Amino acid sequence: MASTMVELERRREGARAGGGEKRIAAQHAKGKLTARERLDVLLDEGSFEELDMFVEHNCTDFGMTEQVVPGDGVVTGSGTINGRLVFVFSQDFTVFGGSLSERHAQKICKIMDMAMKVGAPVIGLNDSGGARIQEGVASLGGYAEVFQRNVLASGVVPQLSLIMGPCAGGAVYSPAMTDFIFMVKDSSYMFVTGPDVVKTVTNEVVTQEALGGAVTHTTKTGVADVAFEDDIEALLAARDFIDFLPANNREGVPERPTADAWDRQEESLDTLIPASANQPYDMHELLSKVVDEGDFFEVQPAHGANIITGFGRIEGRTVGFVANQPMVLAGVLDINASRKAARFVRFCDAFEIPIVTFVDVPGFLPGTAQEHNGIIKHGAKLLFAYAEATVPKITVITRKAYGGAYDVMASKHLRGDLNYAWPTAEIAVMGAKGAVEIIFRGKTPEEIAERTAEYEARFANPFVAASKGFVDEVIQPHSTRRRIALGLRKLRNKDLANPWKKHDNLPL
Ligand code: HXC
Repeated sequence: MASTMVELERRREGARAGGGEKRIAAQHAKGKLTARERLDVLLDEGSFEELDMFVEHNCTDFGMTEQVVPGDGVVTGSGTINGRLVFVFSQDFTVFGGSLSERHAQKICKIMDMAMKVGAPVIGLNDSGGARIQEGVASLGGYAEVFQRNVLASGVVPQLSLIMGPCAGGAVYSPAMTDFIFMVKDSSYMFVTGPDVVKTVTNEVVTQEALGGAVTHTTKTGVADVAFEDDIEALLAARDFIDFLPANNREGVPERPTADAWDRQEESLDTLIPASANQPYDMHELLSKVVDEGDFFEVQPAHGANIITGFGRIEGRTVGFVANQPMVLAGVLDINASRKAARFVRFCDAFEIPIVTFVDVPGFLPGTAQEHNGIIKHGAKLLFAYAEATVPKITVITRKAYGGAYDVMASKHLRGDLNYAWPTAEIAVMGAKGAVEIIFRGKTPEEIAERTAEYEARFANPFVAASKGFVDEVIQPHSTRRRIALGLRKLRNKDLANPWKKHDNLPL
């Protein structure tokens, strides 16, 4: 009996050693943690329960029978984050470069299937050279099995990907279909074809980092959501992030105690809006003063920064916030902002997270770059997302709500549940000067000035909209948190369903 237990421990030690000391040292030399060290940081201490530790590959080609490492390059199982269950896989770059074999894929699929059965998030730590070259099509099949599960899990359990090393070729499509992607600066990259192929095909010379590093994907492409300095920072942020998310699409948002009074007044918000309509202010100030304890987790802070998306809590319960940012491009809606916010709104709706929208939007961005790249279809994504969302929706117009962008930004007409405006709100087809220059074209500058003042007096306020019931109430800025908290309480049992359909036809 004792000898079998010794044997088990010996085997476990073998599996834990991964690709061996030399390769572990090489991993550390790149500033990367190993697959197991990462799980130690991500999960509550001692909570990790491993599965499939002794799974081996089944490849007999290219001398692979002599090269067998138990676990086959991925560590899988479950654990807790602040006491809440999550399923995890962590690719081990020290074993065949973390490459994905048929059995490696089966391990990932097993924990995804369990996560779906019990309704818990899946977190993938990606660090892999891609398809296990020795296995050929068996590996491609493995990828497709994972892809299929990514799709079925979408909207059922949250899926978070941390890219902590290479992620190239078709392998990128698994993280791409998860809900959120975190990347680590300088040590991770994602691209469909790497710099060598790019050089051969297009003659462009580009580094891995510039082509698909963390900065590129969190600024230019928006493929990834947040970039971190190192593994530890990314993993600790993932813990904070998971705290905001429901375990699945039926459980509802998590709730945690807060010492922050629900009716806390913020007098400073009464002077947030500058005297001039063209002067910017930082929408982050409103967000941090409204949410519990100022704790706001921003998603995609460096991409499409003219709109802010992220999670906060009100009365301890998670809320998704969308807010135009007057500090960047005057808060205009463009392609990037529309796509970013649309995806965020759809995530919130899928997981029953109420949405609070702060509006200060001068309209859609004009120009050939926007039109020729399809702002019509991309802007429609945000409109579509808000209109189909059935979760509680509270909107606060702080200043501008002009034109089509007024309609799009969770207006009353798109089934906004509670639409508030600050006294500083201006709800109109467009800014006064632009409007007057169109309807009084050819008039003298004096007449234009006079008409502009008249237009401002008529429309640069929330009362016309309020008189039609398009704004439910004009509220004092300092009472914004209290109003939102009361609104969310009222809406907790909101029951609204869209007409039956197989699925909609979102303007992709
Ligand atoms: C098998 C692999 C491997 C792979 C790396 N290794 N990638 N083994 N299949 N795909 C092994 C190496 O042989 C080496 O083994 C160890 O992992 C570390 O690799 P190095 O090259 O020494 O490391 P590094 O210099 O850091 O370079 C990492 C790398 C490079 C950039 C990822 O290994 C690389 O280019 N690998 C091939 C990538 C690739 O072409 N993959 C297929 C893509 S197509 P030893 O024993 O020496 O430690 C694809 C299709 C997916 O993925 C389709 C899905 C639909």
